[in-house]
Amino acid sequence: MKPNAPAHSASSKSTGAQTLALSLEGIDKSFQDSAQTVQVLHQAHLAVAQRERVALLGPSGSGKTTLLNIAAGLESADRGQVLIAGQDLTPLDERARSLLRRRHLGFIFQSFNLFPQLTAAANIRVSLRLNGLRDRQWQDYQQELMQRMGIAKLAQRYPHQLSGGEQQRVAIARALVHRPALVLADEPTGNLDQAHAAEVLAILEEVSGDCGLLLVTHSQRAARLCHRVLTMVNGTPQASVASDDE
Ligand SMILES: Nc1ncnc2c1ncn2[C@@H]1O[C@H](COP(=O)(O)OP(=O)(O)OP(=O)(O)O)[C@@H](O)[C@H]1O
Ligand SMILES: [Mg+2]
Repeated sequence: MKPNAPAHSASSKSTGAQTLALSLEGIDKSFQDSAQTVQVLHQAHLAVAQRERVALLGPSGSGKTTLLNIAAGLESADRGQVLIAGQDLTPLDERARSLLRRRHLGFIFQSFNLFPQLTAAANIRVSLRLNGLRDRQWQDYQQELMQRMGIAKLAQRYPHQLSGGEQQRVAIARALVHRPALVLADEPTGNLDQAHAAEVLAILEEVSGDCGLLLVTHSQRAARLCHRVLTMVNGTPQASVASDDE
């Protein structure tokens, strides 16, 4: 049984009747190195609807990870507004941001980032524990998700006993099990061979249905599983057409 999704805030920002999973408006971000100031994001705009999958492409250094970090509230923008599940991050202190992140976000990284001392099942359970979701229905949902993702049989293994593709499936389950509004994925197939990458992408497409997904990738194959494809151009995501290579 699927537990109810969290209620969104009454002050949520909506498009029509629907709250956006993510809204970035007018984001500027510069970094200072020893010699100069480099503007990475310039008037960046991006909206991800609930249940929408958006791919973000762009050359190395174009600001994709910076944009994800700002969307997650891990990094501050110089200017602009970030709303997650309709809630404005800007006025929140670090503690409030962290709570919002915990409840409404899931992260998937290129390097899996599992806790090495925890089993696969315990790694996934972390997302439930952090949110105080201890009810039977959440435990059942975790079990159901692991079954759907083909990792139930790996529950008691530790990360070092798993292949890269298996580790990434565990990491995806951890990102999704608390039913966040938004999942941010930074090159989730970057460390996998083609066969494992295809398998992980198919699973991500299948199980991410209830969330908004922002998928940073260099892979046209990964981009094709998304509803929209954007490319970083001059510091902001712009609509683009996925090409047929790869
Ligand atoms: N903390 C920082 N201090 C200084 N410069 C930074 C910092 N973080 C990122 N940058 C610079 O900002 C630019 C964008 O970096 P970012 O990591 O967002 O790129 P990216 O599009 O994710 O690249 P890749 O595809 O290689 O992961 C780069 O030129 C990078 O060197
Ligand atoms: Mg990056």
